[in-house]
Amino acid sequence: MSVAPKTGSETLLDYLRLEADLCGTKEGCNEGDCGACTVIVTGQDGVPRPMNACILFLPQLQGCSVRTVEGLPGPDGALHPVQQAMITHHGAQCGFCTPGFVTTMAAAHATGETDFDTALAGNLCRCTGYAPIIRAAQAAAHAPVPSWMAERPEAPALQSRDDIFCPRSSDELAQWYARNPEATLIAGGTDVGLWVTKKMQELGPIAFVSHAEDLRQIHDEKDSLRIGAAVTITNLMQAIRPISASLHQLLSRYGSPQVRNAATIGGNIANGSPIGDGSPALIAMGARLVLRRADERRTVNLEDFFIAYQQQDRRPGEFVESIELPKAQDRLRCYKLSKRFDQDISAVCGCFNLEQEAGVITQAQIAFGGMAATPARARKTEAALCGQPWSLETVHQAKSAMAEDFTPLSDMRASAGYRAQAAGNMLIRYFHDLQETPVNIREVHP
Ligand SMILES: Cc1cc2nc3c(=O)[nH]c(=O)nc-3n(C[C@H](O)[C@H](O)[C@H](O)COP(=O)(O)OP(=O)(O)OC[C@H]3O[C@@H](n4cnc5c(N)ncnc54)[C@H](O)[C@@H]3O)c2cc1C
Ligand code: FES
Ligand code: FES
Repeated sequence: MSVAPKTGSETLLDYLRLEADLCGTKEGCNEGDCGACTVIVTGQDGVPRPMNACILFLPQLQGCSVRTVEGLPGPDGALHPVQQAMITHHGAQCGFCTPGFVTTMAAAHATGETDFDTALAGNLCRCTGYAPIIRAAQAAAHAPVPSWMAERPEAPALQSRDDIFCPRSSDELAQWYARNPEATLIAGGTDVGLWVTKKMQELGPIAFVSHAEDLRQIHDEKDSLRIGAAVTITNLMQAIRPISASLHQLLSRYGSPQVRNAATIGGNIANGSPIGDGSPALIAMGARLVLRRADERRTVNLEDFFIAYQQQDRRPGEFVESIELPKAQDRLRCYKLSKRFDQDISAVCGCFNLEQEAGVITQAQIAFGGMAATPARARKTEAALCGQPWSLETVHQAKSAMAEDFTPLSDMRASAGYRAQAAGNMLIRYFHDLQETPVNIREVHP
């Protein structure tokens, strides 16, 4: 089978519904929030993953196979166990969300995932309520994976277009981008997807950077990790788990499984969002960014990459190649405040990393998202901590210095006053956290 994209930015959802006549996949929000458009994508690693078709561009899928809700029943029409369980457990009322739920559930079923609160965090249901849906997922977990699900659908061949470039390596990308510096780079498309579906932008020439094999790799270099810019948040989480449980937990609240399966750490940094979750954590860890233009590379401290609102230290034709991340991170703690636990952008994200010797603070790296026009370090607060004894009194004094670091804004996520107070309280929380006092409401048991 061959697919001819109408434009470089045609989404999988539009292709399925308007051209392939596969209308089981639904359009809800068209911005990655509701999961109604979930399909199962299997890439080169052979792992079936749920992804949002509404913000997946067709060229991102080159070499991948896609299973839609129409592909869940067997060839003889036998229902997939999750479909049957949704019927038995009354998991659907209006049914609009159901195709997205069953595809997400079938992907979890195929990989043996049984944490359904997490697996289904990216699927919204407005009328049934989640209890019957979770009961259905739990009931289906005992059934074997149907034989037809092991068959990998043929990956459709993508017809090439002059305005699409799918580099196989960072070398190819570097040469092409240096010649086409006005082009748009797309990695996971979880930001750029919305430029197309919500802002109706025409993108012109596009390089789909996630096809570059080396940009998807993580190299263990003894004291540090070298993380390719196109590593997805899902794959980053696996590499981070042994280094920092706290950052792993933060990343587990990043969007939803569908978003984490697409979004990349390079895209999260390069978009320069003041409210992204990756950058504050990586700044507090002392990360450095490797930028590349043609054959030239330069390395910058991540905090120096962010110059002003939506202005990054990136020259024409230059791209983020990798991130160098020191591994020793015992005292890193990351706190995300958002209105919802899952699938929500931070109002404030605070990341703290202090060193101490003989009870005296020797080094402090504290970074915030949501407190300024860019992700930023709290340098005055850090200075107020360094050289002081590690005590509650010191922490309270340093908290007052934070007012000199930041003048946060009020917006729909939080007021300036709330942000300022919450950020200061996070420092107190950090103190208690390192004393091993429970600070997370989910860890407090009566
Ligand atoms: C439903 C939803 C929930 C979300 N939840 C969160 C959340 O909880 N936390 C959070 O931080 N973010 C969240 N986001 C935002 C988004 O996922 C991130 O900003 C994401 O990491 C962007 O990565 P991407 O690979 O998808 O980037 P893309 O959309 O592909 O690109 C983003 C930008 O980076 C540029 N770019 C990409 N790769 C490179 C590169 N290698 N070099 C130079 N420039 C590059 C692109 O040109 C573009 O300007 C959410 C988004 C959605 C849609
Ligand atoms: S339509 Fe809502 S996530 Fe795609
Ligand atoms: S059944 Fe109606 S939205 Fe879920």
